[in-house]
Amino acid sequence: MNIIENIKDTKAEIKRLKGAGKSIGMVPTMGFLHEGHMSLVNKSVSENDVTVVSIFVNPTQFGPNEDLEAYPRDFDRDRDMLNKAGADIIFFPTPTDIYPENYLTTIKLTGVTENLCGLSRPGHFDGVSTIVCKLFNIMSPDRAYFGSKDYQQLQVIKSMVRDLNMDVEVIGMPIIREADGLALSSRNVYLKDEERGAALSLSKSFNLVESLIKDGERDAKAIRNKVIDFIHSHANTNVDYVELVHPEMISSLETIDGDFVLALAVKVGKARLIDNKYFTI
Ligand code: PAF
Repeated sequence: MNIIENIKDTKAEIKRLKGAGKSIGMVPTMGFLHEGHMSLVNKSVSENDVTVVSIFVNPTQFGPNEDLEAYPRDFDRDRDMLNKAGADIIFFPTPTDIYPENYLTTIKLTGVTENLCGLSRPGHFDGVSTIVCKLFNIMSPDRAYFGSKDYQQLQVIKSMVRDLNMDVEVIGMPIIREADGLALSSRNVYLKDEERGAALSLSKSFNLVESLIKDGERDAKAIRNKVIDFIHSHANTNVDYVELVHPEMISSLETIDGDFVLALAVKVGKARLIDNKYFTI
């Protein structure tokens, strides 16, 4: 496995590989890998000649009071996991290589970024779309793999690729969960043992919504309020948002008259957890 720490050498290596007719699969990450990331890597390894994994904690997608400094990092562990999984290249750049002093450009999407995390984390998706666009330009992947836990992020990236006519197939992969239902996240490391039950309230709320829908409830606000009450009945929880949204537009729904996504962001102690479920009506 090749570890490349700068853009110039990465581009040269990708050019060489593409010249030799190799297909490139890419998995963008911020490191501190877990089985969710590894499901993307495994899929990429199975579908492409070469798999490149980027590890970069992207400062521009963190707000001023967020956890950029505290974000968990363990490069040696990540490298060993990726080596074992058969990844070919780790792209591990420095922030100044990605954002040099004269850096000027931001990619900004409207619509799909204007709800959920786009509201509660202003500027977050500008940072995400910009870094992902840069990573696509550096690695020219044929396919790029993203987890569906960040459901809104996946829609943002799909919209950017469509709007900017980018030559990459974006593949969304299912959420990987612990046996008890907790969605895997690098930020789960912030959870204290006694907060685990509260953290499970996110995935447990899916059953509540399932039964409300089954009983014929179609008022999104009524469903939303029941989910919020359920989550707040657990200690140490603070709901950031609970919304029933259109699966592609990410706009909040008033009435359920078709498929929707239940999207949640909840602070449990120090950890801000997100989760979602796609409901087919
Ligand atoms: O999902 C993530 O880990 C990040 O948002 C991504 C896509 C790697 C961009 O920094």
